[in-house]
Amino acid sequence: MAFETDTAPSFTGVVALDGPSGTGKSTVARRLASRIGAHYLDTGAMYRAATVAVLRAGVDPQDADAVARVVAGMRLDVSTDPSAPRTVLDGRAVDAEIRSAETTAAVSAVSAIAAVRTQLVQQQRLLIASAPTVAEGRDIGSVVWPAAEVKVYLTASEQVRAERRAGELKGSDVRAVAAEIRRRDAFDSTRAVSPSHRPDGSREIDTSELTVDEVVDMLEQLARQSISNRKVRT
Ligand code: DC
Repeated sequence: MAFETDTAPSFTGVVALDGPSGTGKSTVARRLASRIGAHYLDTGAMYRAATVAVLRAGVDPQDADAVARVVAGMRLDVSTDPSAPRTVLDGRAVDAEIRSAETTAAVSAVSAIAAVRTQLVQQQRLLIASAPTVAEGRDIGSVVWPAAEVKVYLTASEQVRAERRAGELKGSDVRAVAAEIRRRDAFDSTRAVSPSHRPDGSREIDTSELTVDEVVDMLEQLARQSISNRKVRT
């Protein structure tokens, strides 16, 4: 079922939105999902929730076997309503905890573990298969859903990304945030399993000089084009 909006016709496919942090992915993906009546899936939130489970269990995020055991035993539920996205771990909402500095520092290590990715990708595919979805992450267009009707890779200059992230984490120092972003980018793009990169067939949009609404307008146009292309083909 698609969420109700006042715009027609409905988008019935998948929008895969990939890119590093600070490119505006989450805000854009949520707003786009609301506009086109689709579900919204934040896959980064799922890797972050797995990291919370690992930290709670007192397990070293580098210990692949121990991490895989914790993640196999956790219960993760996500709401894909773009007006109320929620991440629930073992029955309790963890929306604040998944954004903590401690979680952010450990999430790259946890998300690099093959068993963790296999499990979460499977859950992500089930969610995407159940409804029209705007899914955001690092590997949506390449691994999770390569057949997505719309595949976009968002970028932005390092300075802009750091300023946006520091703005979200009120009071943070832009230079420290830039260093953390560089560290995570380097790790995520060089890991052995599903390294973060621009998916084949994706369109790259540099958001450095664009407002959120300008990016959402561009994506909405691509989604609507994909509907009319499908009609022409059938
Ligand atoms: O988008 P984010 O900052 O919330 O993502 C958190 C981490 O999870 C990031 O370091 C990369 C990882 N991630 C991933 O490996 N694959 C995804 N599909 C989404 C996020």
